Amino acid sequence: MEITKYPKHLAIIMDGNGRWAKKQGLLRIFGHENGARSVRQTLEYCVEHKIPYLTLYAFSTENWNRPADEVKALMDLLVKFLKKEFDDLNKNNVRLNVIGNLDRFPDKTKEVLLNTIEKLKHNTGTTLTLALSYGAREELLTAAKHIANKVSKGDLAVENIDETLFKQHLYTSNLPDVDLLIRTSGECRISNFLLWQIAYAELYFTDVLWPDFTKKDLETALLSYQGRERRFGKISEQLT
Ligand code: FPP
Repeated sequence: MEITKYPKHLAIIMDGNGRWAKKQGLLRIFGHENGARSVRQTLEYCVEHKIPYLTLYAFSTENWNRPADEVKALMDLLVKFLKKEFDDLNKNNVRLNVIGNLDRFPDKTKEVLLNTIEKLKHNTGTTLTLALSYGAREELLTAAKHIANKVSKGDLAVENIDETLFKQHLYTSNLPDVDLLIRTSGECRISNFLLWQIAYAELYFTDVLWPDFTKKDLETALLSYQGRERRFGKISEQLT
């Protein structure tokens, strides 16, 4: 079947790198390295099919609790990826965006990230958003604090706090809501990812481990998405 309806915003929880490596008798970092290959393929697909927003959960606030050598290896991998892929990202008209709290990131990683964002900012194709040191509860608390601050200073009236205003205080203020959320590796959890933004998203879970995830697996997910009726609380007859 042909895919004719693509999501505007695709988000992915890239899970299973560690298990993939273990299955091959390799260290976990090799799973992440091979996961980077799946990132490239997924992004390429989004570019080819003009999916405007791709958001990837690359490092959660909880991931800081992993062994120090794995955290370091992930930081290094990110830098390596951005340097190696820069020309292709630019050629493919990709914009880069980051959501999360970068304060804890090593200076070098932060510098490369911000530099890459800057150099790609004039592109107009797919926006690749990396969720780094990201946690949805932290994002929501930060938004609530900013809003409360404005109220306490008298700059904002409580009556004017609505969904539009709240959204403007999230890391994702410049992104539309998620249409399709994919999680790989057989886990059926959200794990603190984009809790506000997935309110009406379609969820798709697959047993495929992230380093094995190919364009074909993505097409299977997109076909499932295409077959779903999104009613946003309405009834079928109201949709046409
Ligand atoms: C989850 O698998 C994956 C991560 C915590 C990191 C994701 C990072 C990449 C895919 C590396 C490349 C990313 C970019 C953006 C270049 P896991 O380690 O929790 O797997 P497990 O559940 O099998 O242990």
